[in-house]
Amino acid sequence: MVKIAPSLLAADYLRIGEEIRRMADAGADYLHFDVMDGSFVPGITFGQDVAARAAEGPLPVDAHLMVVNPEKHIDAFARAGVKIITVHAEATAHLHRALHQIRAVGCLAGVALNPATSPDCLRYVMGDFDLALVMTVNPGYGGQKLISACIDKVAEIRGMLDRAGKDAIIEVDGGVNTETAVPLMRAGATMLVAGSALYGAPDARAVIDTLRRECA
Ligand code: DX5
Ligand code: ZN
Repeated sequence: MVKIAPSLLAADYLRIGEEIRRMADAGADYLHFDVMDGSFVPGITFGQDVAARAAEGPLPVDAHLMVVNPEKHIDAFARAGVKIITVHAEATAHLHRALHQIRAVGCLAGVALNPATSPDCLRYVMGDFDLALVMTVNPGYGGQKLISACIDKVAEIRGMLDRAGKDAIIEVDGGVNTETAVPLMRAGATMLVAGSALYGAPDARAVIDTLRRECA
């Protein structure tokens, strides 16, 4: 069954607790927590202290670190109680080490790829990650249109995993909605992040139900 991870980026920050519960009540599986440092991406969002409060809520937290040198922050996010820590392959010179650092602190290790990044960078870390996050927009902003070339990348990663005899979650992030989810799932995605499509909808449960039905 497909996992649904609403992105807190699109929530009302004055009411974060309620906004998290709203998605849990609507049937979400994870809370996607977008950390931006103003360097890897232009904007700045929230950090480990907000993550710690979010992790007290009903959904496991999926931390997407859009930050340079993410290894400096792995321990702090693990202490905050998040479940998944994802680093960008483009943001670290030592991806293999970062992935092992994440597992060593008891979290699931994720590696994210920007739209222009080849999945080849995963070839020598097969078996070292639990999740591959395929960015389907350029990171930094919610509400963008999905870049369709990234759908092929999902299929390519699924093929690489199969050939290596490994399994991992394939998460897609950016421009995901009830229309774009279907080709992404067909290509092999198993976890959908949605910001504007869920927080922007009057009835998030209806959107989640539609995503699950269409992807079944
Ligand atoms: C973008 C973030 C996404 C963002 C997706 O850099 O990583 O998680 O919230 O937003 P939507 O679903 O609106 O494209
Ligand atoms: Zn994200």
